[in-house]
Amino acid sequence: MRRLTLVLLLCLSLSSAHAQQAGKPKSTRSKAPTASTSLAPKRGQTDAHGHQWWQHAVFYEVYPRSFADGNNDGFGDLKGIASKLAYLHDLGVDAIWITPCFPSPQVDFGYDVSDYENIDPQYGTLADFDSMVKEGKKQQVEIILDFVVNHTSDKHKWFIESRSSRNNPKRDWYVWRDGKGPDQPPNNWISIFGHSAWKWDEATKQFYYHAFYPEQPDLNWRNPAVKKAMFNVTRFWYQRGVAGFRLDAVDTLFEDPGLKDNPTKPGTNQYGDQNQDRIYNAKLPEVHDVLKELRKVADQSHAVLIGETWTPDLASLKEYYGEHDNELQMPMDFLFTQVNRLSPAEFRKQIAGVVDSGGWPVYVLSNHDIRRAYNRYGDGSHNDAIAKLMAALYLTIPGTPIMYYGEEIGMENNDPTRVEDVKDPIGKIGWPKEKGRDGERTPMQWNDAENAGFSTAKPWLPVPASYKTHNVATEQKDPDSILNFYRNVLKLRHDDEAMLDGKYVPLNETDNNVLSFLRVDGDRAILVALNMTGEKQKPAFDLSAQGFGNPQPKVLLTTMKSGSGTLKALDLEPFGVYIAEIKK
Ligand code: GLC
Repeated sequence: MRRLTLVLLLCLSLSSAHAQQAGKPKSTRSKAPTASTSLAPKRGQTDAHGHQWWQHAVFYEVYPRSFADGNNDGFGDLKGIASKLAYLHDLGVDAIWITPCFPSPQVDFGYDVSDYENIDPQYGTLADFDSMVKEGKKQQVEIILDFVVNHTSDKHKWFIESRSSRNNPKRDWYVWRDGKGPDQPPNNWISIFGHSAWKWDEATKQFYYHAFYPEQPDLNWRNPAVKKAMFNVTRFWYQRGVAGFRLDAVDTLFEDPGLKDNPTKPGTNQYGDQNQDRIYNAKLPEVHDVLKELRKVADQSHAVLIGETWTPDLASLKEYYGEHDNELQMPMDFLFTQVNRLSPAEFRKQIAGVVDSGGWPVYVLSNHDIRRAYNRYGDGSHNDAIAKLMAALYLTIPGTPIMYYGEEIGMENNDPTRVEDVKDPIGKIGWPKEKGRDGERTPMQWNDAENAGFSTAKPWLPVPASYKTHNVATEQKDPDSILNFYRNVLKLRHDDEAMLDGKYVPLNETDNNVLSFLRVDGDRAILVALNMTGEKQKPAFDLSAQGFGNPQPKVLLTTMKSGSGTLKALDLEPFGVYIAEIKK
């Protein structure tokens, strides 16, 4: 599928003898959820299990352009975000990661930064940022910023100086090289966003390297002055109260100094370029040295480093934690996003893999680069039920989840149908194979008023027709909504020790229809059973091997409307979710 191509480029009981009535489920429909009271430790503290704040926090990605428009100009902004922090706290969110909100020509919608220590006027001012942090403290929502480490905008003053002459002191802040000949770039490397990764500069008669768009020249991390300047950027924001960073495209930080050609692979990508193995310009070992040093600075502020870590397997993902857990605390496990079908076997494999690796798992279902989970997993007729099922999956397994804005209301992708409507440049370069990422970046749906309550002005991207039913205001009133399901499951996660620290024990591992597991905390456990099919299922649980001979389940949360039978023969409705407490 389209997004997968980008992804690849970027990385490359009950005992049978004592069956008990599970009883009539407490439906999520009957209760109005209340705000979470988190068991999570505060920043700088650890809990009885030695866990830190970010290990129990629920993170939520905000795409600032699309979240809330405080000044009604059609684009979201920081005032808008600040006004929604109470909503996020109430939902059960503890930290937000805001994608880049720094001054930028917006070629890559903020991922082309022209000043790392300011706010883009489109989003507000530094004073607005400070007010947002203050409001975050009030609402107990930490702020995480996006740190675009690999490249700047070509309009950043560093690059403007660098390209001004070959002798400029900042020349070596970027990757400049002679070509192999006229119109011949230094090597065969292709940009992740299509075509040669080298751009000719007529004034100084050299090429510069860009892993992404030509407007995003790569910084030369081998130059100590670059390192120093970038480390100071993190200090600047820590002093302003941020609780960490999401490191953008960390894989691409270093390039082979000899600029060797990458080996080619059969076939072409969505832009028509010959495929290649990016062994000389991605995942170079030097990346880990930088991560260790960034971590030392982060630790001084009890901050967390999240990584955009596209890895082909769990062994490579594990490397990002560092040999001594001294690199990224939260490398994102994108292998989980690539399951892309309701397969208990696949999810079991992914969960066990990351849990057994010893690293703290970090799960996402989608983000501003990945099609929304609502569409990826939905079957077209049970999408709402499936959205709850997926929430019940990734919010109850051990680790830290990073939600994507709108996921909690079942927002869907709204892909452009005509190339002339596309805003994301890769959608223009790659049309129609690659339609770009506009579809997953549309305005947050706050209510059923015009423009989904996002703005009174025409929003920069159109809202899908589903905003009439899938919006915060409407769903808040419906106890059976996706939103209230999220609130309930997040509340359970925050309030229940077993949900936070319980050992993950997979159950019925050969069942191809129902994914089930325990979270065991001493004499108590939470049993989660998820029907990943459109048919009724009746799994049987014998938990005597786990020490729960007579478990007496007490239902904590379910999407099912009828009774659930017994653990010897649990009645699971199509795509039904069953979460119960059991005791020894
Ligand atoms: C990361 C971002 C993506 C951006 C790219 C270049 O992959 O998530 O949105 O386009 O980096 O900065």
